Amino acid sequence: MRTPVIAGNWKMFKTPAQTREFFSAFLPLVEGSSHCEIVVCPSYLSLAAAVEAVAGSRVRVGAQNIAWAKEGAFTGEVSGPMLVDIGVQAAIVGHSERRQHCGETDATVLQRTQAALEAGLQPIVCVGEMLEEREGGRTEEVLRAQFQDGLAPLTPEQFGSVVIAYEPVWAIGTGKTATPEIAQDAHAFLRSLIAAAFGESAAQATRILYGGSVKPDNVQGLMAQPDIDGALVGGASLEAGSFAKLVNYDG
Ligand code: PGA
Repeated sequence: MRTPVIAGNWKMFKTPAQTREFFSAFLPLVEGSSHCEIVVCPSYLSLAAAVEAVAGSRVRVGAQNIAWAKEGAFTGEVSGPMLVDIGVQAAIVGHSERRQHCGETDATVLQRTQAALEAGLQPIVCVGEMLEEREGGRTEEVLRAQFQDGLAPLTPEQFGSVVIAYEPVWAIGTGKTATPEIAQDAHAFLRSLIAAAFGESAAQATRILYGGSVKPDNVQGLMAQPDIDGALVGGASLEAGSFAKLVNYDG
């Protein structure tokens, strides 16, 4: 049995004051929800406010990125030990927006994932194909390459702490969710890659989240798929009511 994860990726939205406001509305709405893990990933600037706001609740706070080094001359980067020090517990790695706009590659995804694991953070590693790759029938080829270069080099023990997010780039922020069937196919394919690299029991234990225009009205169809273990949510995680509805997808 894989415990589902509902994670919010706030991207470059919300100040610390808006973060506190969100949690005072959100926490009472998810107080009774114990069926899934809840993670919220604000910008670096709002992490401390988020950690403080969720104290005593089941909600965990994640960063949206993490440096591959522990410390050093890396202007603009924030390291795993720094994140852990303030109470952060997870980090998104390799989001497609970072791959597209910030030069993230499978090699840096692997390094950042290793840095997260060394620091004791749970990496949420994003993979997914672009529209032209899907239309060109190359989805599996792209996922295989991202997995082989970004995840397969981890040790089995390291891999055991990883959560994967399948996010087809054409579905992110576009309102075009993958149909549950399209998402399920990609998740099943990723699980087969995990089985080949790390064995069947690792494949059965790994949580694979779907991301890309997940909303309260489509979450149930996605969550009903056998290989979809949760969601990584952008836009619909910004408002307390809609994110609470996503967390409470089963009721
Ligand atoms: P979206 O973003 O839900 O706004 O499509 C998802 C993501 O980028 O993680």
